[in-house]
Amino acid sequence: MTDEICVFGGDDAAPEAVNPTVELLGSLGLDVEFVRPPVDEHAEALDSGRLPAEIRAGIDEADTVLFGAASGRHVPIIGYLRRAYGGGTFANVRPVIHYPGADAPLAEPEGVRYTIVRENLQGLYLGLEGDVSDLRTALEGSGIDGGDRLGTVDPGAFAIRAHGEPGVRRLAEFAATDAAEMAGETLLTCATKSNVLPRSDGLFDDVVADVAAGYDGVTFEHRHADDVAQQQLIDPQSLDVIVAPNIFGDILSDLGAGTVGGLGMAPSGCYGEDGAYFEPVHGTAPDITGEGIINPTATILSAALLLEYLDHEDAAADLRAAVAGTFAAGDVLPPDQGGSASTEAFAGAVAERL
Ligand code: NAI
Ligand code: MG
Repeated sequence: MTDEICVFGGDDAAPEAVNPTVELLGSLGLDVEFVRPPVDEHAEALDSGRLPAEIRAGIDEADTVLFGAASGRHVPIIGYLRRAYGGGTFANVRPVIHYPGADAPLAEPEGVRYTIVRENLQGLYLGLEGDVSDLRTALEGSGIDGGDRLGTVDPGAFAIRAHGEPGVRRLAEFAATDAAEMAGETLLTCATKSNVLPRSDGLFDDVVADVAAGYDGVTFEHRHADDVAQQQLIDPQSLDVIVAPNIFGDILSDLGAGTVGGLGMAPSGCYGEDGAYFEPVHGTAPDITGEGIINPTATILSAALLLEYLDHEDAAADLRAAVAGTFAAGDVLPPDQGGSASTEAFAGAVAERL
């Protein structure tokens, strides 16, 4: 059966990475079809923050979605992909892999290969904020321990950070399954701050530990998020899968990307119960729009995750091997990796190796 892939180039420089990636996908000889919903025809609705039914239908009818990045017109689309598509894409998977030849600042980047599984819908990114004075009023008489400490930050603003047990459990199952699928004994590192937040991050730790105990070959460890950051720098080869609440996963994955050559190298997939979409970790790179030099590797590697999701494992491996070969050869690399090749030239070099 034909797999339908819905494609959004995104805003600013993002389409310059997405377009050659779609060409690469198209050259793999797979039974896939690309659908590009007419974003510009719906400019007015999208620019005022609404998601038109035609765009939504394009997404829902496809088997999966490849997305660039959003800073303007595509913002309502990514909002839908994150919060609603697939029942809510709760697991943001961000592999951190060193490709020899990439411009990695680590002294010894060889063999860095781990995955960050970031909770994508809860935690601090619930986005619930308000005035401290209102919170004080709301909490009066609630008996919350230490509530009087709020006086030290009034007047001020607060943000809520909350984890739901079922949400953490399905994330933990996703991460533990990922860890179990890796070769050999694997380490599942839970990155939180349960030392300062024993209730909320403690719940996160307990659920992940409980889930991990049910998986053969997966060893659970808890580390404080700041300690994990240090580990990513001093001994990244020891890591296999890191599972983390939203804010920590966000920060640790950019750190991880930085260690293997930067945002141009960092792919991601966002998985829900009934669907998944794929996008690079980076944003729209507005400062290089139109220059034809954006590194498409992050988008190409996101497409490899997409192929795995569609059960085209061999094609995904071929695509990664072509990327690896291009970096190893080192003669056609984009500027962010120390080369001077255009996006087109780099993508062409990858295509030649397929
Ligand atoms: P950014 O990731 O777009 O850019 C940061 C820096 O890295 C820039 O100098 C950019 O040129 C460079 N860069 C990023 N990707 C690159 C690539 N593939 N090749 C070469 N250089 C690359 O982050 P920034 O500037 O903070 O955000 C720009 C816009 O993107 C904002 O509007 C932001 O909200 C949006 N954004 C969207 C995301 C999404 O759609 N998922 C994620 C992050 C940011
Ligand atoms: Mg980020």
